[in-house]
Amino acid sequence: MIVTIDGPAGSGKSTAARRLAERLGIAYLDTGAMYRAATLAAIRRRIDLADHQALADLVRDIDIGLDCGRPGDGGQTRVFLDGLEVTRDIRSAEVSEKTSRVAPVPGVRNELVAHQRRIGAELVRAIGGVVSEGRDQGSVVFPDADAKFFLDASPEVRARRRHQEMAADGETITYEQVLHQIVTRDGADRSRAVAPLIVPDNAQVLDTSGMDIDAVVDWLADRVREKRPR
Ligand code: DC
Repeated sequence: MIVTIDGPAGSGKSTAARRLAERLGIAYLDTGAMYRAATLAAIRRRIDLADHQALADLVRDIDIGLDCGRPGDGGQTRVFLDGLEVTRDIRSAEVSEKTSRVAPVPGVRNELVAHQRRIGAELVRAIGGVVSEGRDQGSVVFPDADAKFFLDASPEVRARRRHQEMAADGETITYEQVLHQIVTRDGADRSRAVAPLIVPDNAQVLDTSGMDIDAVVDWLADRVREKRPR
């Protein structure tokens, strides 16, 4: 079984995808982590992020490894770059910011999409299924998925969630600044030429604005069971 969850930052999709995978007893694939690992490699090798050919060559050259864990172990994904663990390094503010410049590069996406399909097939073989989360999982990577979801929330709610996360991490930034970043980033993500953030064909859309995470996971699990009763 393949389930895809796409949506903008702050829609709650990462937590929902991890918890849904636990609930269904299948694997969780965090594709954003792969774009982040590629970006970390570019930073470490001092590649000019405007040089798209160099970025595409880099992604072909590096080895991005994901240990997606097993259902029941808490859903922590470990990320490796050329064999060395980078799970924490890819979450820095610098990597977050620069990933939004690396992810739109066509040569980078081609490589990582192929890599995601390989990992997905392997997880289906080994564990029986995967919840794959990102921006283009239902539209590009797994268009024939068994169930496709698009999670959204109002910019204000997404900014509030993001602001709380950043404050918890000790970052000093105002709610208004976060809201401005979210609105700007949304415009760029939805209008970019390559893999724009769109609602995939046949995806079910959920606005999580007024919902807590348990209600979101319940709703997703019910929709999957309707399609694949056990
Ligand atoms: O979900 P995240 O914040 O870890 O994603 C990191 C970046 O990668 C973000 O800029 C969106 C981008 N991304 C993408 O373009 N396609 C995906 N399938 C996953 C993430």
